[in-house]
Amino acid sequence: MTTSRIKKAVFPVAGLGTRFLPATKAQPKEMMPIVDKPLIQYAVEEAYAAGIRHMIFVTGRNKRAIEDHFDTAYELENELESARKDALLNIARSVAPDDMNCSYVRQPRMLGLGHAVLCAEHLVGDEPFAVLLADDLMAGPPGGEPVLVQMARAFERLRGSILAVQEVPQEHTRRYGIVDGEPAGKGVINVHRMVEKPKPEDAPSRMGVAGRYILTPEVFAAIRAQPQGAGGEIQLTDGIAALIKTQNVYAFQYEGKRYDCGSKEGFLEATVEFALQHPEVGEHFRGYLKSLAL
Ligand code: UTP
Repeated sequence: MTTSRIKKAVFPVAGLGTRFLPATKAQPKEMMPIVDKPLIQYAVEEAYAAGIRHMIFVTGRNKRAIEDHFDTAYELENELESARKDALLNIARSVAPDDMNCSYVRQPRMLGLGHAVLCAEHLVGDEPFAVLLADDLMAGPPGGEPVLVQMARAFERLRGSILAVQEVPQEHTRRYGIVDGEPAGKGVINVHRMVEKPKPEDAPSRMGVAGRYILTPEVFAAIRAQPQGAGGEIQLTDGIAALIKTQNVYAFQYEGKRYDCGSKEGFLEATVEFALQHPEVGEHFRGYLKSLAL
């Protein structure tokens, strides 16, 4: 099913990915593959499934590979065509369907996620939009809808900004923005407050924000009104916290699983689980894992 009210998605991909050095010295973190598909493509496919056709990438230095990935690869396509390798040709072409548009804007300095989102303001305009952090790889439930599709559906009902949340272990609250609020229907919380990376004993709940958002355009003014933090950084969380004072903001407990592919552990977990489900290599890989003396 496709949903059309949200037409644009913003992908902040300007980060340095220092946790993956040296792999990210000359290539973007978002181009690292889980089995055979780069992280950014999983996120773009999720947005496409939600009916979004305009993809806006907020890029930085060393990110050209992302632009190339979503462009036509003439030489490759010619080679595959003349060799009659149709299946591979289809894979290469399917990365950028004909009805999908991509825009690129640079974040000239790494001034935080809020600042990255602001860099896309002139391309988004005055309409609700999605934000996807590609290093959070989101898998919908088996046979179910992708996470952003679930959120777009919830937006039809709620008509307010929506943050994807999941229950996180108490001892991990420090890694997340944690929401505080009151239940507003099944799996939905009307958010009163957000606390950034609280200590377990200070966390108001165990609902941690994952890298998927649907935001109303008023968030831009709310981000802009934020004082710059240490190092001139502008945080998206602060902008959303300000938005809560003027509009309803909801947390949505999605169905599915999040892999934190910005960390080595999460990246490896995603690799193993996606490899096990892969139609081409899954069976072999399962046998291989069983043969290991762990
Ligand atoms: P991270 O905190 O994961 O930072 O950013 P990072 O630089 O990508 O990775 P490490 O910590 O150095 O390994 C979360 C998301 O926000 C984007 C990043 O690209 C990533 O998708 N981001 C962050 C920006 O686009 N611009 C910023 O100024 C900050």
